[in-house]
Amino acid sequence: MQRILITGGSGFIGTNLIQSLLKNKCIVLNIDKLDHTSKFTNLFHPSNDKNNYIFKKLDILETKKLSSLINNFKPNLIFHLAAESHVDNSINNPKVFIESNIVGTFSLLESVRGYLSKNNLKNFRLINISTDEVYGSIVGKKKAFENSFYNPSSPYSASKASSVHLCNAWVKTFDLPIINTFSANNFGPYQSPEKLIPKIIINAINKNDLEIYGDGKNIRNWIFVKDNAEKLISISKRGTLGENYNIGTNIYKNNLEIVTDICNILNLIQKDKFNYNTLIKFVKDRPGHDLRYAINTEKYELIFKKKVYDFQKSLKQTILWYKNNYRWYQKLLNNNILSRKGLI
Ligand code: DAU
Repeated sequence: MQRILITGGSGFIGTNLIQSLLKNKCIVLNIDKLDHTSKFTNLFHPSNDKNNYIFKKLDILETKKLSSLINNFKPNLIFHLAAESHVDNSINNPKVFIESNIVGTFSLLESVRGYLSKNNLKNFRLINISTDEVYGSIVGKKKAFENSFYNPSSPYSASKASSVHLCNAWVKTFDLPIINTFSANNFGPYQSPEKLIPKIIINAINKNDLEIYGDGKNIRNWIFVKDNAEKLISISKRGTLGENYNIGTNIYKNNLEIVTDICNILNLIQKDKFNYNTLIKFVKDRPGHDLRYAINTEKYELIFKKKVYDFQKSLKQTILWYKNNYRWYQKLLNNNILSRKGLI
């Protein structure tokens, strides 16, 4: 039976990944420090009532505790997702990103190195979850490949690029069995309301302003979180150790288009005959705002079967999820989660 350890499994991608993993026979141990958002939402973690799911509150910076937990649980697979992930927060408070994302990854790598030195595990692998933001803003029609150079713009993306460098060094020097993945912008259930899509949905439902940074022309590549989770699982099974994989879709949209899509769906599904597009408001831009993320995903698609999720259907499903799951995020709203962050 697979014994899978997830760091940061109470976050957005982690929660969805665990849901997908538990559909198969395995035991999942989720370690999470429960940060400013997940301390409220983890109560409603969809895996809480499953008997092959274990949760332990732990900060990966606590290397001694982390090591003993790994040595006791004896995982044969680790997904490393624990990270501070919101760009705007990294502008206000970069230090916590350096600590969690860089020093935290170092702590995990050293714990895993100790664990592997004591156990002869032929099939062990560590999947490090990174982001397409490490490549920085990609101009024109170009796309970043797995071997493109890193050109991060924010403290967040710089910290994620650094953690990949650490992983690669531990592969080369200590022979650790690691694969790095670089995902595009995820959306779907359980995403923190700080991020664009949930923030816009929640504000729209409450008829608040829908704030678009700058002129709304910044382009992102969008992937439904269930799709991303499935791709992470296939890479964990059949990816090549020491390799990097971009994970994305062919859905490229600028922020105004995304917000308009959400408004158009709400115009159809809400019964109040209100024109949600009238709530759109352009506000001061994010400092260092990347204009365009774009990744070449052929390396993944050549090896693995591609299941296509329809973007509009997944977006509608996400909107309905936020409409029906107020309990999941209500405590976050009292915490100023929707207020503007990241201005200097
Ligand atoms: O590309 C992958 C990355 O995508 C992940 O690594 C990050 O963890 C994730 O946060 C996301 O980064 P972004 O900065 O692209 O996501 P965010 O949801 O913060 O913003 C998406 C776009 O929308 C970005 O161009 C900024 C803009 N934006 C965001 C917010 C919160 C707005 O215009 N208004 C907003 O209120």
